[in-house]
Amino acid sequence: MHTSQAGIFALGTSAHTYLEFDLVDEKKRKEFFANVAAIHEPRTTTGGVNFVLGFRPELWREVVPEDAPQGVEGFNHEIRGVEGFVMPATQHDAIVWLSGSAYDVIFDRARSVVRDLASQAVLAEETCSWSYRHDRDLTGFIDGSENPTLLDAPTDALLPEGVPGAGGSVLLLQKWQHKVAEWEALPVEQQERVMGRTKSESTELQDKPPYSHVARTDQDEFGHIFRRNMPYGSVREHGTMFVGFSAEQKRLSRMLESMAGLVTGTRDALTHYTQPLSGSYYFVPSIESLRHLR
Ligand code: HEM
Repeated sequence: MHTSQAGIFALGTSAHTYLEFDLVDEKKRKEFFANVAAIHEPRTTTGGVNFVLGFRPELWREVVPEDAPQGVEGFNHEIRGVEGFVMPATQHDAIVWLSGSAYDVIFDRARSVVRDLASQAVLAEETCSWSYRHDRDLTGFIDGSENPTLLDAPTDALLPEGVPGAGGSVLLLQKWQHKVAEWEALPVEQQERVMGRTKSESTELQDKPPYSHVARTDQDEFGHIFRRNMPYGSVREHGTMFVGFSAEQKRLSRMLESMAGLVTGTRDALTHYTQPLSGSYYFVPSIESLRHLR
């Protein structure tokens, strides 16, 4: 029986940092993996930090072939959708996602992670996130209504026992900048048609349009995933850090294609009001697998 990384399911945290790293010397990837696997939370019963550690799927396969999930790939090619819409591919070698209840501990720990890995990897991307009005994203809508409960989430997010990579998960990390002026110029009723849900209560619209976000990502069609999205940014530039975990990469990649209009020809209307700036997939191994690396 494999155990998943606990941070995937650590809900209710309001301070987050996503650190994406690139290896300096591919030949030293084993030492780098060992150092990433050695990252741990401060030993305290209060004010702790959760970590989620992930690796570029191809790199993971080279270092730990016996525990590499079949067919999982990095975000190696941009997705060219209809009407000139493009999702960029910005794959990096590893992700360290820290979350906790206050930003000071996240900040201190993030600095020490970067310091500890500095001789082997460069910090390629850093994004800080924070919760907004309890459970809303920066469109003002409640985010996560169709998420599974924590009883069902492991089934949706984790590779099952008996396959390589069991207890691990495929993570899609994608930063979306909001086009705030265009979004806020829309009357709420139109925003609701874009999303497919009401803004105040997140009730699904009976007659949701085929271009609505929830129609284009319908989990009954593409399969179920577990989302941990968070708002990010400053007053000038902000948006949504999409953080999605799945037992199968295909569920996530098909949702992206669907949003880009490549499944039915209809593009997700939300993509007119938000622009993806990044896109990477990581394999997030079980803790047994991480322990073997140390
Ligand atoms: C700017 C980026 C995004 C924002 C602001 C956003 C926001 C939302 C909101 C407000 C909902 C409705 C409530 C809920 O069920 O959570 C939703 C649903 C959903 N979103 Fe997103 N989302 C974004 C990007 C994505 C991406 C990139 C994916 C997939 C790769 C995705 C997958 C889903 C799924 C699966 C649902 C539930 C659909 C269902 O009803 O079955 N979202 N999203």
